[in-house]
Amino acid sequence: MSSRRLVKLPGLIDTHVHVREPGATHKEDYASCTAAALAGGVTMICAMPNTNPAVTNQESLTLVRNLAKQGARCDYAIFMGASSDNHMEIPELASEVAGLKMYLNETFTTLRLNDLNVWQKHLASWPKKAPLCVHAEGQTTAAIILMASLQNRPVHICHVARKEEILIIKAAKEKGLNITCEVCPHHLFLSTDDINILGVCKSQVRPVLMAKEDQEALWDNLHVIDCFATDHAPHTLTEKTSSNPPPGFPGLETILPLLLNAVNENRLTVDDIINKFYRNPKKIFNLPDQPNTYVEIDLDEEWTIPESTAYSKAKWTPFAGKKVKGAVHRVVLRGEVAYVDGQILVQPGFGQDVKAWDIKKSFTEVAPTPTVTNGYFDKMEYNDGQTNEIF
Ligand code: DOR
Ligand code: ZN
Ligand code: ZN
Ligand code: ZN
Repeated sequence: MSSRRLVKLPGLIDTHVHVREPGATHKEDYASCTAAALAGGVTMICAMPNTNPAVTNQESLTLVRNLAKQGARCDYAIFMGASSDNHMEIPELASEVAGLKMYLNETFTTLRLNDLNVWQKHLASWPKKAPLCVHAEGQTTAAIILMASLQNRPVHICHVARKEEILIIKAAKEKGLNITCEVCPHHLFLSTDDINILGVCKSQVRPVLMAKEDQEALWDNLHVIDCFATDHAPHTLTEKTSSNPPPGFPGLETILPLLLNAVNENRLTVDDIINKFYRNPKKIFNLPDQPNTYVEIDLDEEWTIPESTAYSKAKWTPFAGKKVKGAVHRVVLRGEVAYVDGQILVQPGFGQDVKAWDIKKSFTEVAPTPTVTNGYFDKMEYNDGQTNEIF
């Protein structure tokens, strides 16, 4: 008789997701992206602004908001993108969005900012209480930390991938600077060693896959990492294998199994997952509670990640062939069973914009303080509604 350990987690929050709608719905749209999220145990996403049109003002925000409202199956917040000339008009929208995203290095976007004066203007005018995220690699990480500290404002560093990046962030934190950061599964679980298997084209991503030494530095400094986030960046297989492959990996359907597998390998704890994929994102991005929302995972289920996951339109994954122990069993979102054993049970339109929620209401529905108690279930039918409560 095989055992299974069913554990109840809070609905996970992925603050770095590229939905692709509007502009590239052949890669992904709200309906497919949020189905992928739920299949991965993610009940809330923050959508990046590098769409077409990009989200840079009230008009484009309204457009994306309407598309999201119709398409989303899980809850969401939408990021505003910093452009070279929108620093004056966007601060008044700060409370309605997930935060401001600034692209400071080359990647898949039209929003790249090169001019330090423009960086400075955004750092100064975006409200200090509102999240500000940066794509800032290598030396740019150090530059933006300095500029944020001169302004005395918090900054969140996206997808930390290099040893030099995690070490400068560590030093900044030790100095008391208000810097937070996230790491993606592909930088934790893939390295340049995997480029041989994936091929040069498919392995394109920004930041690029790094050497083992960089990967080890991330694991050695897990305590410096505030959040796990996918940077779910779907492109189709045809695009990825073309002569000019766009950078990016889909990640929503595989992140939690990969993290659970790491728990089984004693590289992480379940509490690390709850801290970095729920509590910290919620705190850093000032996101509300989702009442009656949780994820049931099976820590013992062993499976192999297939060539293509079920719901993302990307229809490929860089983790194909990886054997993992740990799976998502059931997802309950605001009292509705949204996902169970491979089936999505909520329709487009079920998802809500959490930044449109009445904040007072969300403050009264504070979840009880999480405590971790691992327990074991045998393979008897799981039908009594009981799991080991983890929060
Ligand atoms: O690999 C990436 N893809 N990195 C980014 O920063 C953007 C993303 C995308 O939107 O495709
Ligand atoms: Zn980025
Ligand atoms: Zn991204
Ligand atoms: Zn099941």
